[in-house]
Amino acid sequence: MSNAAETPNLMEALVSLAKRRGFIYPSSEIYGGLNGFFDYGPLGVELKRNIRDCWWRDMVHRREDVVGIETSIIMHPKVWEASGHVAGFTDPLVDCKVSKQRYRADQLFFAAVVIDGKTVGYVSALESENTAGELQAAAEQLKRKKAIQGALEPVKVREFTEATADEIPLIPSPATGEPGSLTPPRAFNMMFETNVGALKDASSVSYLRPETAQGMFVDFKNVVDTTRVKLPFGIAQIGKSFRNEITPRNFIFRSREFEQMEMEYFIHPDADWLACHEEWLKWCQDWLISIGLPASHLSLHEHPKEKLAFYSRRTVDIMFKYPFGVQELWGIAARSDYDLQQHQKFSGVPQVFFDEAAKAKVVPHVIEPAVGVDRIFLAVLASAYAVEDVKDEKGNVEQRTVLRLSPRIAPTKVAVLPLLKNKEQLTNRAKALYTKLKKRYAVQYDDGGAIGKRYRRQDEAGTPWCVTIDFDTIEKEGDTFTLRERDSMAQRRITESELFALLEEQVY
Ligand code: GAP
Repeated sequence: MSNAAETPNLMEALVSLAKRRGFIYPSSEIYGGLNGFFDYGPLGVELKRNIRDCWWRDMVHRREDVVGIETSIIMHPKVWEASGHVAGFTDPLVDCKVSKQRYRADQLFFAAVVIDGKTVGYVSALESENTAGELQAAAEQLKRKKAIQGALEPVKVREFTEATADEIPLIPSPATGEPGSLTPPRAFNMMFETNVGALKDASSVSYLRPETAQGMFVDFKNVVDTTRVKLPFGIAQIGKSFRNEITPRNFIFRSREFEQMEMEYFIHPDADWLACHEEWLKWCQDWLISIGLPASHLSLHEHPKEKLAFYSRRTVDIMFKYPFGVQELWGIAARSDYDLQQHQKFSGVPQVFFDEAAKAKVVPHVIEPAVGVDRIFLAVLASAYAVEDVKDEKGNVEQRTVLRLSPRIAPTKVAVLPLLKNKEQLTNRAKALYTKLKKRYAVQYDDGGAIGKRYRRQDEAGTPWCVTIDFDTIEKEGDTFTLRERDSMAQRRITESELFALLEEQVY
């Protein structure tokens, strides 16, 4: 068997499976697609919805201290001035004047090529699993090309943001391999601008939100005034966010339109924010494991103090081992009272909570777990994917592709399969079961082709169970079906009530 980690070109396999089986399509594909935008197909939309629903149930319904809201995507432009996004939500952009390619300076690396202590040129490479190796190889190549004798020093990898004004003209563009075409980095604001109303001038400029979080801050007073929340409490939201990313890449990992699940947890200014931060860090990791991500693929990255976002006291990212490297999945930030203070200042409306014990008004502090649904989707797909050798009914070895998705999030929970399509007794019983199941669960009815083929189809779609209505169902006592389990491929007889009990236990 080969699993995610062992499949060469896993990303290619995932993109191809996603398209073939209707999980994800490129957006506007008939027009050549649009970089950084994607559509979710019939299976994808179910998987994505299940991820969201699981999070909402666990974060909002099953907790007593978190409420949910849904705020507008376009908000008053002042929101983004107050939050700091208008001035500071930028990435360092580098242009290649020859190829017209654009790079993020913090994802572009370079090194001086030093031979016998003397710099003889520069090499560059884009961020990858092996940036240092690529730069070293490029340095060796440059030495050969220039036919310089002497000892080549091991390269010292530097981010393009650290390049001096003298060095920039000497660093080759990754697109052309030639120096002289890269511009110095400039701040590029990632917010998508739009105009609200009939007039298109500076007064009508607004933005598609780059994060859902500001909705929770701006509605903080509304929630406090209209519900019975007491500190500490959280406000959660799921919704679309938009960022004009310079380099959208790695399929849905970094896109320009994506979905976030964020929760702002308001705590008393005197509360132990570090302990609270740790608690949420653990909650988030446990939750990822509960939807089927392997703990072995998760790790933590503590942001060094000098690289913290302007609003953060501490940020720890939960990292996931994606096929293209270990990358951020979920950021858990301690945002202090930065946002509420800013909105208080810009709106003139006090953003306070009345502390009964101290008989005083306080501006709460915030712990924020913020995650992208699409990043979870990709993590789930990558770790669930496997290709394995199996034997068909005649004992011949064949390959099956299987998505070992947790029943909690699998797009289809059960497939109902009548053994034969043209035997009414079988199809009637199968349809009756299908009708009953689909009142409660996402179920598929499939009577097309050999039973083995139908099992494979469901394996590839991640369906945890198939139920086959066969001759034993209609001829023997007990009204039992064959339950075929996706991962072990084991089969056993099961009654209708046992099937419902199994689903009740495993799906929610
Ligand atoms: N409110 C804080 C905030 O938005 P962030 O780290 O910029 O923090 C939170 O984003 C999460 O949103 C990330 O950890 C990631 O899962 C997801 N995310 C951010 N940018 C994304 C993008 N361009 N495409 C897909 N997901 C993204």
